[in-house]
Formats: sequence, structure tokens, C-alpha cells
Amino acid sequence: MLRSLIRLSVPGRTVPRACQFVARGVALSGPAPVRSQLGLTNVRYYSNKADGARAQTASAAGALNWRTLAVFTATGAGLLYYFREEKKRVEAARAEEARLARENTTYGKPKIGGPFSLIDQNGVRTTNEDFKGRYMLIYFGFTNCPDICPEELDKMAEVLDTVYDDPEVGNVITPIFITCDPQRDTVPEVKEYVKDFHKNLVGLTGSMDEIAKVAKAYRVYFSKPPKVAEGEDYLVDHSIFFYLMSPEGEFVDCYAKDHTAEHVSKSVKEHILDYIQKGGKVSKELPSRQAQTSS
Ligand code: NI
Repeated sequence: MLRSLIRLSVPGRTVPRACQFVARGVALSGPAPVRSQLGLTNVRYYSNKADGARAQTASAAGALNWRTLAVFTATGAGLLYYFREEKKRVEAARAEEARLARENTTYGKPKIGGPFSLIDQNGVRTTNEDFKGRYMLIYFGFTNCPDICPEELDKMAEVLDTVYDDPEVGNVITPIFITCDPQRDTVPEVKEYVKDFHKNLVGLTGSMDEIAKVAKAYRVYFSKPPKVAEGEDYLVDHSIFFYLMSPEGEFVDCYAKDHTAEHVSKSVKEHILDYIQKGGKVSKELPSRQAQTSS
């Protein structure tokens, strides 16, 4: 492109005044490498010489102006080309970033969640498959948590009642509490704990490995103090989120501690209504095992 533009310049041809003006302006104000390349370093355009000399200079300037114009155009074209290439490069880099982001997500959502196998509050081995067909609202915590977990689980109960009471939505969510303190939160402990919050609340515990695995899948951080003497009380530091999972078990949304029950209820309802409007099916029946035990 650059070369063909330069070839267009014909030395000696008169350049229209406007072009001369442009070409001069550029040549004189242009970067030094461009001027020296054109041999313009010593050319004076604004000469006060006699007419003859001026005509001579004008002729030389005419030839130079064509070259200047060509180079100017070529430089412009070059810059344009450069910016276009740069734009393409940036766009390609963005597309690659987007591709990588997609790889890490499912249907445009972060890859949160996954299969789990734990023990429910009745001592029954329970997996993610048992909850399919309904939404799950999952919370990770521990029964000895003095304030945050009870507050969050009260909030969860409020959200559930609001959503269940909406005739357009109904009882389509199974609430799940997963302990991140499996050493203390045994089956009886969990059973005693969950019934304080909501009749449908499922409590899950398991081995340390099983809990660590499910926490990792949900990107939940938890940490027990490193040195705890036998029988000594301790707190488990843990992330505070509710995860809304679809009837297929896929991540839909998550809610933080500063989200009010009102906000969470509204958002959860919107997600569910959107799913139903798009032809999604969701069961209002509790999973059979939970139905037997929650009454
Ligand atoms: Ni807590």
C-alpha cells in the first residue's frame, strides 16, 4: 500500500495551491527524519529572494511537494494501517480473553458448584443428584457460629417464605446448609441445628475430605484455627454466600452478607420466573427423602 502510493507521485508536476500549502506545512512541521529523508532539510519555502530565484525554488518545491504529499499520504496511510492492525491485534487479544473466560464458565456463568456426596441430617448418604429438578439455595457455615450463620440462615428462611408465598413461583427451592466444621458438626448436631431455621432446610455434613471437596467446588473458603486443644471452643472463618443453583444443578447467582432478604428474594424470583418463561420445568415437590423427614 505504501509503495503504490509513492509511485503515484510524479516529479515536476504542479501541485494545486491547497496541496502545496498542506504539503509545506507538513514538511516543515513534520518530524525531522521525514524532512531529511526528502532532502528538505535545507529547503526554504518562505523565501524573500527575487522573482526568478523564487520561480526556481517554486519549481523545485513543486517537485518536492509531490513527493512530500505522497510521503505525507503514505505516512497517513501507514499510520492508518498501523492503527487498523493495532485495533485488530487488540480485538484478537480481547476475543482470546473472552474465549478463555467462556472456557471457565458454563453458559456464561462462573464455574461454581459440581457434584457432591455428603450425609444429611438423618444420616443418609445424599448427592447433588437427589436435588435435581428444583432450585437449590446453598449456604456454608457451622453450627457453633455465634452470630453470622444464624443471621444468614434467618435471612435464608425469610427469602424462602417470600418466594414460596409467591403464587407465580411457589415452593421450588430446596435450602441446603453445608457445614464447614465437620469435626464438631456430626449428624445429630446438624439435625438439631437446621430445624431451628426452616422446615425444609437440609443439613449436610461429611468427612473432612468430602467437605473440603464441596467447598472447593463452590469456591468457599474456610479455615479452622491451627492449634485447638481438645474440647476447646473455636471459630471457623468462612466465606458468607448463598448460592442459587438451577434445577440442572448449575450456578445461577450468589448473594453476599450485605444483600438484604428483600434483595435476595426479588432476585431469586426473577431468575426463577425467567427460567419458567423460557420453558424451564421446576418441581414444587420436595425431594422424596426430604418430604418424609421435614414433616
Ligand atoms: Ni458463620
